[in-house]
Amino acid sequence: MQALKEQFTADLAAAKTADAIEQVRIKYLGKKGSITNLAKNTDFHSLSIEEKKAFGSKLNELKNFAEQALAAAKEAAANAAPAKKTTGLDLTLPGTGRTLGSLHPITLIQMELESIFQGMGFTVVPSPECELEFYNFDAVNIPSDHPAREMQDTYWLKNQMLMRTHTSANQVRAMQKLGVPLRAIFPGRCFRNEAVDPSHENTFYQCEGLVVDKNISVANLIAVMKTLLSQIFHYEATVRLRQGFFPFVEPGFELDFQCQLCHGEGCSTCHGTGWLELIPCGLIHPRVLEHAGVDPNEYSGFAFGVGLTRLAMMKFGIPDIRLLNAGDVRFNTQFPTFV
Ligand code: PHE
Repeated sequence: MQALKEQFTADLAAAKTADAIEQVRIKYLGKKGSITNLAKNTDFHSLSIEEKKAFGSKLNELKNFAEQALAAAKEAAANAAPAKKTTGLDLTLPGTGRTLGSLHPITLIQMELESIFQGMGFTVVPSPECELEFYNFDAVNIPSDHPAREMQDTYWLKNQMLMRTHTSANQVRAMQKLGVPLRAIFPGRCFRNEAVDPSHENTFYQCEGLVVDKNISVANLIAVMKTLLSQIFHYEATVRLRQGFFPFVEPGFELDFQCQLCHGEGCSTCHGTGWLELIPCGLIHPRVLEHAGVDPNEYSGFAFGVGLTRLAMMKFGIPDIRLLNAGDVRFNTQFPTFV
């Protein structure tokens, strides 16, 4: 009995879960348990009456001891169980708001433009903001004595380098790098040393586009521009071309967009004219093609320079250009992330 008691105590101490404790109970106190059957397995009948009494009371003692120990172990396991499951989290507490980042209106317009042009088979090409004087001016037919240089007040750097004044600086680079035929856009930041006011910034964004192939005409240019504007403004765009002058295009145009607020009637947004001047463009000047090593007798093309900053202001109704570069989070987070 003593050996059995010790064995039981050791087994119970090793049983940590309710299931394991139940197994111990069955092993000792179940129908075929070793305590239950102790009397059967003992030569009980050969004992004297006195011995039987003593045996019986010892056996009861052992049973009681085992039952109490099992009950205590079960209770301890039941109390320990919920404590184990607790993580310290109170799921009923109100959550803390998480501030999500947002995209800048210029980024949104740029992404939208990129996807529209990619849909028309254009490649998006990265381009440097810090440029050689050659690519920004000479390569696009603006030699050093050309008056057009003065129209673009330039931030000069060392070693004949500058902060590019327009994305046209990448025209010749793109043709040299990718060859022709070519359909590419290069969006990016441009810099001009200008006095800043509600409609002028020294840092602004353009998106240049270039198509070079055989038999490219003004009709192709107009078709691409109309598709672009109709998709951006979700409105069947009416456009017109006016003569414009840029040394790197011949003929050069200003593409006007019929004012979407007054449908051409004339309002304050379009200063009563019914038209908004929107995209400078034209057929690529043969000398620009030559600079890129492209034969102007074989190839022709068109180029355009979308003012991304201007477009973002029009699309989102932003009244002052300075808001775009001010870095004020209250302004920057106002725009729908998915246009
Ligand atoms: N680069 C010109 C500007 O910044 C715009 C332009 C681009 C004009 C392409 C014609 C063709 O004013």
